[in-house]
Amino acid sequence: MKRIGIVIAAAGYFLIAVAALIWTQQTPPKVHAADDGLALTPPMGWYPWNEFGQEPQNEKLIKEIVDALVATGMRDAGYTYVGPDEGICFSRDNKGMLATNLERYPSGLRGLGDYIHAKGLKYALYTDAGTLTCSKAMPGTKEHEFEDMRRFAEWGADYIKIDWCNTEGQDIIKTYMKLHDAQHAAGRPVVHSLCSWGEGSPWTWAASIGHMWRTTGDICAPGKADWTKAMKIVAANEKLYQWAGPGHWNDPDMMIAGMDGLSEAQNRSFFSLWCMMAAPLMAGNDLRKMSKSTLAILTNLEAIGINQDPLGIQGRIVKRKGNITVWAGKKLFDGSQAVLVFNQGAAPEVMDINMAELGIDQKRGSYVRDLWTHSTSDSVLSPGGVLSVLVEPDDVKMLRFSESREFPIPPILVADMYRLEFRASIKEPRTLSRAIVVRNRGTDQLLNWKMREGLPAWLSVKVTRDQKTQVLMNTVSTAGLKKGRYHALVRADNIERVSGKPMSALYYDVDLEVVSDR
Ligand code: GLA
Repeated sequence: MKRIGIVIAAAGYFLIAVAALIWTQQTPPKVHAADDGLALTPPMGWYPWNEFGQEPQNEKLIKEIVDALVATGMRDAGYTYVGPDEGICFSRDNKGMLATNLERYPSGLRGLGDYIHAKGLKYALYTDAGTLTCSKAMPGTKEHEFEDMRRFAEWGADYIKIDWCNTEGQDIIKTYMKLHDAQHAAGRPVVHSLCSWGEGSPWTWAASIGHMWRTTGDICAPGKADWTKAMKIVAANEKLYQWAGPGHWNDPDMMIAGMDGLSEAQNRSFFSLWCMMAAPLMAGNDLRKMSKSTLAILTNLEAIGINQDPLGIQGRIVKRKGNITVWAGKKLFDGSQAVLVFNQGAAPEVMDINMAELGIDQKRGSYVRDLWTHSTSDSVLSPGGVLSVLVEPDDVKMLRFSESREFPIPPILVADMYRLEFRASIKEPRTLSRAIVVRNRGTDQLLNWKMREGLPAWLSVKVTRDQKTQVLMNTVSTAGLKKGRYHALVRADNIERVSGKPMSALYYDVDLEVVSDR
């Protein structure tokens, strides 16, 4: 008996050792993009390609979308990055430098960036790693990496999507590393969004040089939302769950929720899947004419809270039955867990789930909250209990399990502007002050903000907190300054209480012009 026991124990240890070996081989190295504090939760914003393709991408369209982001409340739900995609924005001049296409962007690409920053949004721009962009309408960065990234910095870019067309003969890792070095050399921290559609398996190497990488081909042809294709992308992206985390995300492409051709249930499912996969939430629909239902889906803060969870875990499929998949493995910052039940079939179906198969260890049992009906169960589901979930066709139930009846939403920060402009005369030195107000749409408090050192002598910033609002008071003193333009990129870190690490970094520009008044 004893001998059998020893043999079983030995076999058990052997299996554990093999499992540990496989696990270490599969686990990605814990490297992040430089210590820039960017994209510590999946970037959110809007990008034109899915709805519009190239036409009519121009300054008017982008500004109208910017205004719609503000007017609809999308900005206040966390959507921040916005700008042109391959929108024929620039060409290369005879000195080899990028120059704005002023026919399409009369204010210049810097002017568009200033408009975006003044509205409390961040500026996203697009380029390509090869000789030309995909439709060959714009120059790529090949052999111009450093000057192009400098130009993007001058334009005020906060996010750069870099495509992989027309790159014959280029080494993908070396190319994107060079682009990262060029961004670093340009001195303006940017979200680096790699777009090789999964080519070169960027998830295995790009975490140290980029913040997100496309895992698949395009989700649709412009203007033609395609549910079947989107579901294929979901299947491919799901498998890569282990590679995502704070500062480095799998990107299954911009969203198609709200585009023509999708039902309300499909929009809800699509959005829930993107939230559950910790995917960047780049809306792709026309925000100027979106339905109430689409807006309600895209701005559901309880669902966004799952996507923006600071632990940054990508959920995955843990159970399948026919057309139903159950997604779990997404532990959240307060110890609760997100669960998604998705019915891809044509008829309503019931799925029974229990906590063991969801990997949820909540010994006191769990309250279950429905994140689409915004209701919490009256009683707890016991650890051994079974929950029967009814799901309509193409629809989801998005749930959150917690031992407590509280379901906090993590910080979702919204600033009223990202650029301050000061002007003073050299004859009359002045002290000028202006505030940037940052609201937290999450329910969790933000306690400790830390200003990064290294501000120029003419600028000081003081942070004060008024309940859930942080006020960054900027004071500029022009005494002793010569005539000219001055610039500072200010960084404030929102510090996590336990670890003392930044949960997110907030950057904004301060521009000062000292003029002589003659
Ligand atoms: C590629 C990208 C798209 C879009 C187009 C522009 O196909 O994957 O997202 O940027 O290029 O041509």
